[in-house]
Amino acid sequence: NITVHVQHPDGSRVALEAPTDMGLSLMEYLKACEYDILATCGGMALCATCCVDVLEGEDKLNEMSDDEYAMLDTLPDVLPNSRLACQLQLNPAMDGLVVKLHHAE
Ligand code: FES
Repeated sequence: NITVHVQHPDGSRVALEAPTDMGLSLMEYLKACEYDILATCGGMALCATCCVDVLEGEDKLNEMSDDEYAMLDTLPDVLPNSRLACQLQLNPAMDGLVVKLHHAE
């Protein structure tokens, strides 16, 4: 298991123990943790509702695919550290990652 930290809108951080041996994406895992992610496209990089801003550990992530890049490019408020959580499969290298939900208020 790895630890993924989620920063809430009030600045507090929650540490979550995430499994890396179940083939879950970060989107699927955060949804399972009852974070408010619609994921209307089901993880196909088409809806951007799973967008997260990576606060720490960006270098631990896999490269963006063209599909992910193209989707993020359509968001008006995308940040250089924004990623689609459905495109990030949980793996041991992601231990210590810190994210916040892009659309969280
Ligand atoms: Fe739709 Fe990630 S779930 S883009």
